[in-house]
Amino acid sequence: LTNEELYRPNFHFTPNKGWMNDPNGMFFYKGLYHLYFQHYPDDNVWGPMHWGHATSKDMITWKEEKIALYPDDMGYIFSGSAVVDVNNTSGFGSLKNPPIVAMFTYHDAVKAKAGAIDFQSQAIAYSLDEGMTWTKYKNNPVIKNPNIKDFRDPKMTWDAIHNQWIMVLAADVETKIYRSSNLIDWELASGFGKNLGAHGAPWECPDFFPIKVEGSTEMKWVLLQSINPGGPNGGSATQYFVGDFDGKTFTLEDSFTQDLNQFGALWLDYGKDNYAGVTWSNIPDSDGRKLFIGWMSNWQYADKVPTEKWRSATTIPRELKLINTGGHYRIVSLPVKELDKYVSKTIKKDLLTIDKATVIVDKSAIDMSRLDIRFTMKNLKDDTYDFILSNKGNNAIHFGINKKEKCFYIDRKNVSKTSFSDEFANKISKAPITADFNSIEVRVVIDKTSIEVFYDNGKTVMTEIYFSDKPMDSFSIAKANSDFELKNVLINQLNIK
Ligand code: FRU
Repeated sequence: LTNEELYRPNFHFTPNKGWMNDPNGMFFYKGLYHLYFQHYPDDNVWGPMHWGHATSKDMITWKEEKIALYPDDMGYIFSGSAVVDVNNTSGFGSLKNPPIVAMFTYHDAVKAKAGAIDFQSQAIAYSLDEGMTWTKYKNNPVIKNPNIKDFRDPKMTWDAIHNQWIMVLAADVETKIYRSSNLIDWELASGFGKNLGAHGAPWECPDFFPIKVEGSTEMKWVLLQSINPGGPNGGSATQYFVGDFDGKTFTLEDSFTQDLNQFGALWLDYGKDNYAGVTWSNIPDSDGRKLFIGWMSNWQYADKVPTEKWRSATTIPRELKLINTGGHYRIVSLPVKELDKYVSKTIKKDLLTIDKATVIVDKSAIDMSRLDIRFTMKNLKDDTYDFILSNKGNNAIHFGINKKEKCFYIDRKNVSKTSFSDEFANKISKAPITADFNSIEVRVVIDKTSIEVFYDNGKTVMTEIYFSDKPMDSFSIAKANSDFELKNVLINQLNIK
């Protein structure tokens, strides 16, 4: 096998060729999920940015489409979003054939090189054929640069509560909130976050949306705000904020201010490989889910990973929910239910008592490169519970719970390919444990080159990629100091073409 096929995921989206970073412009329309992405088709490293395009009926199997947006003399096409303008507020289409409107950042590389500050501005484009081809608006940019160097990544949302379009973008150390009635003329409404959450590097790729608190009628607003570097385990990561929005200003929930005082920041994913993720627009009310996908890499090493023809994959698409747990709001994320359709084989074990190192499943029973595993851990003491995905070629990824250090962790240093970057596996990635120890739910999605661990029903998530030169052949758990139990073990093999 060439490195290409050895490392090409089985069921995570990758571009056929060339470079990919952030997901962009995701919307749902007429039965199709659209995914655009930061793309440089001519090389496997970052370069003049295009918007690549892919479509899917279920967010799991993707068809790569023609490139949607090419750079031009105004600049590279940086990250942004797209909405279905159902009421034709922009006038680009008609009520019968509503336009899809995209907003992106023009990054003027020539200006940037010449030392200017104002090289990023916001521009729009529209599609009258359901997102397949695009026309750039003739009077771009629609938002000029206000003399802020980092001024990018507009994310638009229809705000049905206040009957307006809203848009958030990252402006240096804050999120700026804009509003509009027609997607063309934008008014600056407010700024958020200057002294809140993780800082120290530019903010990037925000997303801002209303979401119902699970099990209630209460509505809150969530801001996702990526930062690079500054993530909890180094490099790129996405933090979130919970509060209220009056149509102009986003105000943090009191309990969330306390959470920030306690934790500094709350992270959507504590692993190293989930960045710049945002949600799909135009999901029908009858569905009502907040559907998310992220870029499964990290700026620390994204352009050094050992693939040649293409680089980077997306995360498994996830449903985000907001829960209130003892007066504190948390986002939980889990793989979308569409993944379940692809289960081709299931192994069930009602109860495993772990009193010695135990193989939970191996390649004699199931294909180890396409798994969705779930179990509940019971009877935990102050100990380390170490799960191992490994092969006889001495590759091993460890993850689990270190109860003494009060953390979940992933350790990928014992995988064959790590030396391409000092920052790839130099440290064990950790996430604070907030779960109740009597019983911890664990779900693990394993592909050829990635592991996504959802602890505690998705309250703490860790996503990391790995590059093993031989397929993994077993999933096991090490012996702990005292016996414990794995209950309701469900091992699903996924067959996705
Ligand atoms: C985030 C990012 C965005 C920018 C894009 C450029 O990963 O830096 O802020 O729009 O990538 O490719």
